[in-house]
Amino acid sequence: MQIFNKNSDLKLFLDSVREKNNEIALVPTMGGLHDGHLSLVERAKELTKIVVVSIFVNPTQFARGEDFDDYPNTFDDDKLLLESKNVDVLFLPSKKEIYPHGTLTDYKVGDIGQILCGAFRPTHFDGVAQVVKRFFEIVEPNYAVFGEKDFQQLLIIKSLVKNLDLDITIESMPTIREDDGLAMSTRNQYLSNEDRERVLSFYRVLSNTEHSIQNGISVLSAKEDAIKSLSREFEVEYLEVLDANNLTQIQTNTSEIIIISAIRFGGTRLIDNIVFKRKDDV
Ligand code: PAF
Repeated sequence: MQIFNKNSDLKLFLDSVREKNNEIALVPTMGGLHDGHLSLVERAKELTKIVVVSIFVNPTQFARGEDFDDYPNTFDDDKLLLESKNVDVLFLPSKKEIYPHGTLTDYKVGDIGQILCGAFRPTHFDGVAQVVKRFFEIVEPNYAVFGEKDFQQLLIIKSLVKNLDLDITIESMPTIREDDGLAMSTRNQYLSNEDRERVLSFYRVLSNTEHSIQNGISVLSAKEDAIKSLSREFEVEYLEVLDANNLTQIQTNTSEIIIISAIRFGGTRLIDNIVFKRKDDV
């Protein structure tokens, strides 16, 4: 695995890849890698000959008071994991490489960045779009692979590609869960053993909500029951049942539904979602 810190060195290498008519897939990460990230890498390896993984903890997607300074750094383990997956390139840029002219951005994600997580983290998605756009400019990948756990982020990146008319195919991979159902997340490291047990009811409530809807309970009642259950143990930022294609309200012809939620527990914020096709009209 080759490691690059400078855009110019990476670009030189990638130009030689393109000259040989090879395609490039990018997996952007902030490190703290787990099996969820590795599933993205595996998908990238299926798509192209050359896979670039970036590790960059992007300051612009964290608001003041969030965990930017404490974000888990597991670099030695991350590197071993990426080598074990035969990743071709690890890109480790500095802030200066990514933002040579400062961090002001001209790309605004708009309304989809203000709902759900965006209502609680109003600058978050502009920061995500800004850094992903930069990675796309530097790497010029044919494909980029993202996880469906960050579902709102995924839709925002798809819309960025569309709005800027970029020739990049966005691929996504389903959420990878621990054996007990907890969605894998770098931030799970913040949970104590006791908290780790208690957050299991998060996914359980989402699964029960899917079950209720599939069994004919109205979306509204299912949603209210879910919020009530979660609120007994957690601070619920939001729980919504929406059209999975665009995160808007469900219509009678909506076929793909998402149950999407963010909770806070102790000092930790967790997000999760379930996407499903409804059996009958809801
Ligand atoms: O999902 C993440 O880890 C980050 O938001 C991303 C896409 C790497 C941008 O910093």
